[in-house]
Amino acid sequence: MNSVGSGPIPGLFLVVARATNGVIGNHGGLPWKLPADMRRFRQLTLDKTVIMGRKTFESLPGTLPRRRHVVITRDPEWSAPGVDVAQDEDAALWIAGEGEVAVIGGAEIYALFEPLAERIELTEIDTPVAGDTTMPAFDPSSWREVRREPQEPAQGEPPYAFVTLVRR
Ligand SMILES: NC(=O)c1ccc[n+]([C@@H]2O[C@H](COP(=O)([O-])OP(=O)(O)OC[C@H]3O[C@@H](n4cnc5c(N)ncnc54)[C@H](OP(=O)(O)O)[C@@H]3O)[C@@H](O)[C@H]2O)c1
Repeated sequence: MNSVGSGPIPGLFLVVARATNGVIGNHGGLPWKLPADMRRFRQLTLDKTVIMGRKTFESLPGTLPRRRHVVITRDPEWSAPGVDVAQDEDAALWIAGEGEVAVIGGAEIYALFEPLAERIELTEIDTPVAGDTTMPAFDPSSWREVRREPQEPAQGEPPYAFVTLVRR
């Protein structure tokens, strides 16, 4: 896969769920429980390489089946079974290689890769949510919405929609 500095990278996409106030996480986990979103996440990432930050990896119960994991950390000592470790975004892209590569968070890692992605698979949580990890809204002058699927929330779930953005 191309290195950083050469513009958007074919096949590189973000998968992110974000509330209207920018919240994506709380106490090291997700602030909501949305089974349909988990299914969509699985469908979008299955049999692909997933790139994530060390904190997001540690929020998971373990490695995700049928996905190759690239975890970014500055800690040269860090490792985990079944995981490729990268110390910056360039190394992560080099390890990931060609093809569809999903960047799955968290906020620090989205900030690193947003300028390089060509697509965003966004779950838009259509209400403010309490949380301690936020990311900025996607700039409409850079991103164009090409698909929107409003979801029927189950009881206790916030209103939400599956949205696809492509780079202008
Ligand atoms: N809603 C969603 O779609 C979604 C998706 C994923 C995660 N989340 C949530 O987001 C939260 C975690 O996000 P976060 O922003 O705190 O952490 P993160 O992005 O998952 O990981 C941050 C870590 O990545 C490493 N890192 C960051 N920038 C780096 C760089 N330039 N070079 C090398 N390593 C770098 C550092 O690891 P070291 O400290 O080891 O050096 C840093 O502590 C959790 O609550 C999680 O549940 C939400």
